[in-house]
Amino acid sequence: MEQLLNQIKELKEKIITNVENDAEAFRIKYLGTKGFVKAIMGEMKNVATENKKEAGQRLNEFKLFVEEKYEQLKLSSGNNSPLTTHHSQDLTLPADDLPLGSRHPISLVKNKIISIFQRLGFAVAEGPEVEDDFHNFTALNLPENHPARDMQDTFYIAQNPDWLLRTHTSSVQVREMQKAGMKNGQGKLPIRIICPGRVYRNETISARAHCFFHQVEGLYIAENVSFADLKQTLYFFVQEMFGKDVKVRFRPSYFPFTEPSAEMDISCLICGGEGCSVCKKTGWVEILGCGMVHPNVLDNCGIDSNKYNGFAFGMGIERIAMLKYQIKDLRLFSENDVRFLKQFTGAV
Ligand code: PHE
Repeated sequence: MEQLLNQIKELKEKIITNVENDAEAFRIKYLGTKGFVKAIMGEMKNVATENKKEAGQRLNEFKLFVEEKYEQLKLSSGNNSPLTTHHSQDLTLPADDLPLGSRHPISLVKNKIISIFQRLGFAVAEGPEVEDDFHNFTALNLPENHPARDMQDTFYIAQNPDWLLRTHTSSVQVREMQKAGMKNGQGKLPIRIICPGRVYRNETISARAHCFFHQVEGLYIAENVSFADLKQTLYFFVQEMFGKDVKVRFRPSYFPFTEPSAEMDISCLICGGEGCSVCKKTGWVEILGCGMVHPNVLDNCGIDSNKYNGFAFGMGIERIAMLKYQIKDLRLFSENDVRFLKQFTGAV
């Protein structure tokens, strides 16, 4: 009996000072079929009958002690790292990665458009999103009751019938022309600007339309500007934006503020011009409206239309982004689903 108790004591001490980190090695050594616990249990047969009860209790206590120690080891060496012990931490380990945000695809495309036109000497101009009727419509040769106002379903502001949410950033162009017009050519002309910004139209939200979207409109006013200048500017833009292989075509169109007016199509990037659902089987997709600024617009803004002329164009950033990144649903841009947004990390 004495001998048995001494053995237990010795083993306990050994376990307490144990430096073994590997729980499995510990289990085999103490609790395995050939382990110490099993061996010491075997000693029971040598214990005198009157001591058997006490010896049994001591052995059971010892077994529980070993099992508890094993559970602790399992917990602390769960990741098998030799550096991890009970409550210690290795402060030299690198920190967990913080997920990096990414730019919104609309911002990426907007910045790209801006940088292309900046290389041609265009400056960025901005203006208010809440506009008055004059800057959004009247000055642009769209007088009250003009049927072309229907082309842009407008959100009016209840408090004041003269206020509205701008339907295009042409309103910024009007403001810039007025500024230049006041001086009538004294230092402010020519004008060479692009106007990026958010615009609003009362449309039912679907994969192809939204009640707000983003535009970049451009304006160049100088002397003797020709339609060829407009085409060359836009050719350059398309090449820089979509690459040299993309084909371009102009179709005659109508806008009250330009004459003549055109819409520009590019060959479909999805099917390469073969015809698909995105280009409605035509092989072409419209990307912008443009034309030579109507003389009435120049006069409305105080610029002498006998001396100056120019061109203007306007495009939807969402449309360009959809083509560039092959996105089929406009709603994705405003839902802010990170699974969508994180795909643009590092994109340009
Ligand atoms: N303002 C027009 C629109 O929003 C686009 C445009 C701009 C067309 C300039 C011609 C010239 O639809």
